[in-house]
Amino acid sequence: MTVFEATCTAPVNIAVVKYWGKRDTSLILPTNSSLSVTLNQDQLHSKTTIRASADFTSDRLWLNGIEESIPSNNRLVACLRETRALRTEMEAKDSALPKLAQLNIHICSENNFPTAAGLASSASGYACLVYTLSQLFQLPLDHSDLSIVARQGSGSACRSLFGGFVAWDMGEKADGSDSKAVLIEDEKHWPDLQALICVVSDAKKGTSSTAGMQLTVKTSPLLQHRIKDVVPKRMEDMIAAIKEKDFPRFAELTMRDSNQFHAVCLDTYPPIFYMNDISRSIIRIITEYNKDGVKAAYTFDAGPNAVIYAPKENMAEIYAILSHYFPGHVFDDSLSLLKDGASVAALPENFDTRISTVFAEGSVKQILHTEVGDGPRVLASQEHGLLNAEGLPK
Ligand code: DP6
Repeated sequence: MTVFEATCTAPVNIAVVKYWGKRDTSLILPTNSSLSVTLNQDQLHSKTTIRASADFTSDRLWLNGIEESIPSNNRLVACLRETRALRTEMEAKDSALPKLAQLNIHICSENNFPTAAGLASSASGYACLVYTLSQLFQLPLDHSDLSIVARQGSGSACRSLFGGFVAWDMGEKADGSDSKAVLIEDEKHWPDLQALICVVSDAKKGTSSTAGMQLTVKTSPLLQHRIKDVVPKRMEDMIAAIKEKDFPRFAELTMRDSNQFHAVCLDTYPPIFYMNDISRSIIRIITEYNKDGVKAAYTFDAGPNAVIYAPKENMAEIYAILSHYFPGHVFDDSLSLLKDGASVAALPENFDTRISTVFAEGSVKQILHTEVGDGPRVLASQEHGLLNAEGLPK
């Protein structure tokens, strides 16, 4: 019997012009366009296997080893409905095609990074789900078309359908058909740009992005200024900075946009705080490092973790500074920054270490070094699949 199965991986993306606010909460249509950098999935990815079979009695989903209910998740239901509708159309036009749209499916998905680390797992997760469905159903859609479906899983997921530098055009139409991801430049465009992810410890459970942004839309007058008067021009500037590989301009826009996103959170009523004392110290550290010229950019999403973008040549120095303030972290040295057991670099001579206190061991739990990466990948299910012969997680 033919097995209908596909296995794919999809990357994480970190926005440099942030998405924050929806004008339609069920279709997930944003109040502003946004732009992100896709990170290398050799370091961070979601992986998904989906099998369709006449033997399955219902649709089932396992996420990081735990079975989850499908019907109670409207966003998941939307992604399945959209892709099955497209497959049904194809099957109606071509009777030679196997009837996959009416079969039940088993979905098994896992991240190679802890969800608890607060990294953007919904972006890579939904991008991977939709991309794997498109492979299973052999949908004749390009990545922008697929991003329209992934967007309905999680807004930021639409940008993970491409590698490199990706814009999400907010669009204007009420049906969302023009609210999609577009490639600005691919992952080969600016190979010198790298990222350090600082996983900050935080006991508190923060407000989810979904709930947080709706409260901002409802209550923040500053958000109205941001979406009308700031983001349209900033998108143009950011695209130009990326095309010209102008790091100081890219970095200033990235830091200003992160700052403004957290300012609209503070302007929300009651206010939302995502950064903590450690996050704010990272801002001070990067600001001091940049005092004679911009050499690094910080950005923070809906949590205390920092992502620092910088040219490759500055990474050893930035890592040395972070190691000074945040002892006792695990370093994922995936790009061999400390080659052959080399020790951590010295602090830059004119760096004023008094700008922040040294934090307790483990305040930053983990630092991960990565770079710009490609879009979703198709893997051979036989070798890499997550489902066993019975269609259950291996
Ligand atoms: C701060 O995409 O997680 O990371 O669409 O409700 O699923 P939903 O929200 P989500 O929000 C991401 C917000 C952000 C900024 C960004 O990635 O652009």
